[in-house]
Amino acid sequence: MKYSEFALSMEPPALRRLSVKVAAVNGINLGQGTCQLPVPEEVREFAKQAIDEGINRYTNPKGLQSLRDAIIYKLKNEYSDEEILVTSGATGAYDSLCEALLDRGDKAALIEPYYPYHRMVLNKYGAQVLTVPLSAPNWSIDFDLVEKTLRENPKVFVISNPGNPTGKVYSETELQKLIELCSQYNCRLISDETYEYITYTPFTSAGKFKSKNVCVVGSFSKTFSITGWRVGYLVATKELIDITLGLHDLTYICSPAPLQEGVARSINSLPQSFYTDLCEKYKIKRDILVSGLSQAGFNVYDPQGSYYLIGDFQEIDPESSSYKFVEKMIEKCGVGAVPSNDFVSKEAKWARFCYALEDSVLHEAVSKLSTLKN
Ligand SMILES: Cc1ncc(COP(=O)(O)O)c(C=O)c1O
Repeated sequence: MKYSEFALSMEPPALRRLSVKVAAVNGINLGQGTCQLPVPEEVREFAKQAIDEGINRYTNPKGLQSLRDAIIYKLKNEYSDEEILVTSGATGAYDSLCEALLDRGDKAALIEPYYPYHRMVLNKYGAQVLTVPLSAPNWSIDFDLVEKTLRENPKVFVISNPGNPTGKVYSETELQKLIELCSQYNCRLISDETYEYITYTPFTSAGKFKSKNVCVVGSFSKTFSITGWRVGYLVATKELIDITLGLHDLTYICSPAPLQEGVARSINSLPQSFYTDLCEKYKIKRDILVSGLSQAGFNVYDPQGSYYLIGDFQEIDPESSSYKFVEKMIEKCGVGAVPSNDFVSKEAKWARFCYALEDSVLHEAVSKLSTLKN
């Protein structure tokens, strides 16, 4: 398929269509994944200082040295400067990496439920997508299925850890096994770790294993609540960074210079307690929504990370499709979510809820949802 045909064939995701309906009833949108938390004051100040200090030009296409150094520090000095690329968010890292690795017709494995952009980018580069479903409710991974899929020779195997939409955090053992299998079949594991600091269980980065088959996609969007700044990074082998660098440069040139500097100073200055507080804040939000949705009749799959959770509505409304169910929920309660359609290839009776909102808004949403079964 040509790029133009691909662009025109892209269905507007259900999320966008339903967000319009939520806005029309002046409701609460628990669908949108944009984090509504304020940007920490220090982080804002660092970016303002950078603008005032004149850090406003194109940066080296690899990113500002200060940010590359800060990322190396963050990665516990286990990677060298040649293995890091600063990118236009995790999205820029993932897109350019897929462009570097995939030729049209190549196979690409993707854990399902998946983050919709992961799939769309694979489609954009003409990859044949092989999905590997996780089993609810624990989102356990079937390694026989992983190996069966790897025998089909995909060039990449994509995971989101912590998972969007599942909230799954891969255990160290699971990651090790995945990496061993990917290495055995000469496939690159792409681990998108955008939510690495929002976890309620110990988190292990795939980068810890230092394998040439591992590529880590990182982001500061969620860590510092700066989704609009567009600062992320890629960790991969020098050879792969060299290729991806050129492709990223062609589309983005660089991530905004003063914002890169603001992030670098934030990484270097914020204490460890900033990160523990972040998890604590999200844990409170998660618990408000888990208990509210459970009381409203959903079966909630226990989320271990990210700021999403999946609510199974089978016991509330076994007949409706996911899209129809969310549509009815918006009409009846004024609360929106994202139907499963955006995350899986087959219809499933659940919807994704986002809790990156003020606690008061979450309480209000929960109270609105209490009338769902009536
Ligand atoms: C799994 C995942 N990766 C990447 C992104 C986008 O990250 P960025 O803003 O760094 O491009 C998101 C945003 O929702 C996400 O959920």
